[in-house]
Formats: sequence, C-alpha cells, structure tokens
Amino acid sequence: MTPAPVVVPEPKAEPARPPEPKPAPTVESTPQKPVPAAPKKVMPKDVAVLTGSLLGGVRLEHKQHVARAGNKCETCHHASKPEKPAAAPQQACSECHTKAAVPPMKTKYQAAFHNPAAQSGTCIDCHKAENAKGKKAPVKCTECHKKDNT
Ligand code: HEC
Ligand code: HEC
Ligand code: HEC
Ligand code: HEC
Repeated sequence: MTPAPVVVPEPKAEPARPPEPKPAPTVESTPQKPVPAAPKKVMPKDVAVLTGSLLGGVRLEHKQHVARAGNKCETCHHASKPEKPAAAPQQACSECHTKAAVPPMKTKYQAAFHNPAAQSGTCIDCHKAENAKGKKAPVKCTECHKKDNT
C-alpha cells in the first residue's frame, strides 16, 4: 500500500509592500535643464608608438610633431567625415581605420598613413617637403618601422 503523498502547503506570497512615500522635493531634486555632454577630452602623450606592421612599430614624437606642424592639429587629425563621424576632435586613427577597411570606410589603417609603396601620405608628404628644405625626416621603411619600437 502506498502512503498518501504529503501535501506541503505553498508558502503564501508576501503581501505587496505599500509604495515608499516620495521625499519632499528639495533643491537637489528639482529637475534641472539637461546639460549637454562635454566633448570627450583626451590628452595626447608626448610620444605615441603606433603598432601593427610586421616591419615594426613606429615611434611618433607627438609633442615635437605638433611644433613641426605649426600647432595645426588638422595636419594629421582630419575633420569629422560623414562615413564615420568623430566623437572627439582627436582620436586614435585605429578607432576608425582598421586593418581591412569595413564599408562605408574605404581607407584602411595603412592608407591612413601612406600608400603601399610609402611614396605619399599623411607623414611622408611633409617629410619629403621638409627634406627638400634640408631637414632629415625619415622616408625609408625601416627608418620609421623598427622592431625595437614597443
Ligand atoms: C604629425 C601628425 C600629428 C599632429 C600634427 C598632431 N597629432 Fe595628435 N596624434 C597623431 C597620431 C598618429 C596619434 C596616435 C593615434 C593612434 O594611436 O592611432 C595621435 C594621438 C593624439 C591623441 C590621443 C588620441 C587617443 O584617443 O588616443 C590626442 C588627444 C591628440 N593626438 C591630440 C592632438 C592635438 C591637440 C594636436 C594639435 C595641437 C595634435 N594631436 C597634432 C598625429 C598627430
Ligand atoms: C572618427 C573616425 C576617424 C578617425 C578617428 C580618423 N579617421 Fe581618417 N577617415 C575617416 C573617414 C570617415 C574617412 C573618409 C572615408 C574613407 O576614406 O574611408 C577618412 C579618411 C581618411 C584618409 C583618406 C583621405 C581623406 O582625407 O579622405 C586619410 C589619409 C585618413 N583618414 C587619415 C587619418 C589619420 C592619420 C587619422 C589619425 C590621426 C585618422 N584618419 C583618424 C574617419 C576617421
Ligand atoms: C608637418 C610636417 C610633418 C608631418 C605631418 C610628419 N612629420 Fe615626422 N618629421 C618631420 C620633420 C621636420 C622631422 C625631422 C626633424 C629633424 O630632425 O629636424 C620628422 C621626423 C620624424 C621621425 C624621426 C624621429 C624624430 O621625431 O625626429 C619620425 C619617426 C617621424 N617623423 C614620424 C612621423 C610619422 C609617423 C608621421 C605621421 C603620423 C609624421 N612623422 C608626420 C615633420 C613631419
Ligand atoms: C614616415 C614614416 C613611415 C615610413 C617611411 C613608412 N611607414 Fe609604414 N606606416 C607608418 C605608420 C605610422 C603606420 C601605422 C602604424 C603601423 O601600422 O605600424 C604604417 C603602417 C604600415 C603598414 C600597415 C600595417 C597594418 O597594421 O595594417 C604596412 C604594411 C607598412 N606601414 C609598410 C611600410 C613599408 C613597406 C614601407 C616602405 C616602403 C613603409 N611602411 C614606410 C609609417 C611609415
């Protein structure tokens, strides 16, 4: 003979709590006009080491280059473009220019700096112009890309 199953009574649901009374409005809780978010401010490092190429990293003396560019940030940091609008006036190039360009982006990471033969581009155009005036700015692959740049 099987014993009658023991029926455990279901625990009664807790009675719903009454809603918390709202605190009286204070100066702090008075709704304020929405303040527009301040643009993201990132401080540039004095030196940026750019990595990605198998030839080695490129050590960019950022602070010195700001002076070389006559304080014109836009020489390298172009203005926002519609395909991928900028979140800040200056951002890491790699945030938008990836190893292979993902549509609608067309300019891959390498092309953001120079063409495949490294004959022209953001860095080399100025280096060639400066060298024509007697400076010694690198134009050869291994003058920029160095294995020990980490
Ligand atoms: C010679 C080219 C060049 C010039 C001129 C230049 N920058 Fe840069 N800047 C770069 C490169 C390249 C990076 C590194 C981007 C990366 O890490 O991919 C960088 C990085 C930065 C970063 C860090 C971005 C981040 O989110 O990591 C800031 C901020 C910045 N620059 C501000 C400035 C300001 C402000 C000026 C002008 C006063 C300026 N830059 C001028 C090339 C330049
Ligand atoms: C917020 C996104 C964003 C960042 C950050 C960014 N770019 Fe661009 N870049 C674009 C877009 C969008 C285009 C236009 C579409 C394309 O060519 O892929 C472009 C195009 C370019 C081009 C092609 C020529 C031209 O002006 O149209 C170069 C070169 C370039 N970027 C270099 C750089 C360098 C160098 C940096 C970092 C110092 C940088 N970009 C940072 C979005 C960005
Ligand atoms: C506005 C002009 C200009 C631009 C743009 C520029 N450079 Fe230069 N760069 C120079 C000059 C000028 C020198 C040589 C300075 C000297 O020795 O008198 C130089 C030198 C260098 C050197 C040698 C070490 C040093 O800093 O003296 C490296 C590496 C270099 N640049 C990398 C870059 C890279 C990477 C970029 C692009 C992100 C770039 N440069 C963009 C002007 C420029
Ligand atoms: C004026 C400096 C400079 C010179 C000269 C230069 N490059 Fe670059 N190159 C860069 C910078 C900066 C980048 C972006 C950072 C990185 O990938 O190391 C880059 C990126 C690249 C990339 C892309 C890596 C990636 O992640 O997509 C390749 C490949 C490359 N360079 C090859 C070369 C070759 C080959 C030469 C010579 C024919 C050369 N570079 C000359 C500065 C230079």
